[in-house]
Amino acid sequence: MRDTSAIIAAARTVVVLTGAGISAESGVPTFRGPQGLWRKFRPEDLATPEAFERDPRLVWEWYNFRRQCIAECAPNAAHRALARFALARPHVRIITQNVDELHTDAARDAAGTRDAAPAMPLELHGSIFRDRCSMCAFQRENRAPVDTSSLASLPRCEECGALLRPDVVWFGERLVPGVLEEAFEWAGLADLCLVIGTSGVVEPAASIASTTRATGGAVIEINPEETPLTRVATVSIRGTAVGEVGRLLAS
Ligand code: OAD
Repeated sequence: MRDTSAIIAAARTVVVLTGAGISAESGVPTFRGPQGLWRKFRPEDLATPEAFERDPRLVWEWYNFRRQCIAECAPNAAHRALARFALARPHVRIITQNVDELHTDAARDAAGTRDAAPAMPLELHGSIFRDRCSMCAFQRENRAPVDTSSLASLPRCEECGALLRPDVVWFGERLVPGVLEEAFEWAGLADLCLVIGTSGVVEPAASIASTTRATGGAVIEINPEETPLTRVATVSIRGTAVGEVGRLLAS
C-alpha cells in the first residue's frame, strides 16, 4: 500500500468527492445501508419529477421533514478538516452529492474573516435549503418549512406563479448545466481524488474518481464499507469520516 501522506503531499490538484456518509456523524441519515432513508421510503414516490406532479404536497412534506432534521445538524470534524485543507492549499475543489450545506457552513466557519470561496463546495445535487420554480429559473433561499395544509397553500413562484419545488436534483433529472462540466474538469486535472462516505452507485458522481484514475491521478477512499469505488482506489481506508479525515489531512 502506498503511503497516504506521501500521496497527499505530492498532489498539486486535489478533488474531494463526498457523499451522505460524511454527514452521518453529524446526524444526517444516509440513503442506503441498514438505516438508510431508501430502506424506509420509496424514492419514486418522493424524489422524482413525476412524484411532484402527482402529489406535490407529499413531496413537500418529505422535504419539510428532511429540512427540519438537517437544520438541527452541524458540521463535524471531517467537514471542518476539509474546509481548512481547501483554504490552506491552492488547488482543492470539494465536490459534494449532499444537499445539507454542511460543507458551506464549515467553509464559512473556517474562513472567519477571510474569503471562504476556496472551501465552498460544488453541489452536484443542489441544496435542501433553496426552493426553485418548477417552470422558470427563479430560486430563493428557504430554511423554513413549507405550508402543506392544502394544494393552495404550497409556495408559488414570484415571477410566473408556478409551484416552487426544492432545489435538489431528483432521480431521472440532469444536473444543473455547468456543474457537471466543472466537476469533471477538476477530476481530469486532479493528481488526487479523495472519496469520502459515498456508496458510489449514483452517476454521474460515481465516475469522478475513475476519471481522476484514468488520467493518472491517485484515489484514496474513506468508507467503513467496501464500495464499487474500492476497486478504483489506490488506497482504501476502512473507517469513518470523523475518525479518518482529520488524521489523514494532518499527516
Ligand atoms: P449513500 O447513502 O448511498 O451511501 C453512504 C455511504 O456512506 C455508504 O457507502 C456508507 O458505507 C458510508 N458511510 C456511512 N457512515 C459513514 C461514516 N461515518 N463515515 C464515512 N462513510 C460512511 O449516500 P450517497 O453515496 O451520498 O441522490 O448517495 C448518492 C446519492 O443517492 C445521494 O446524493 C442522493 C441519493 O439518492 C439524490 O438525492 C439525487
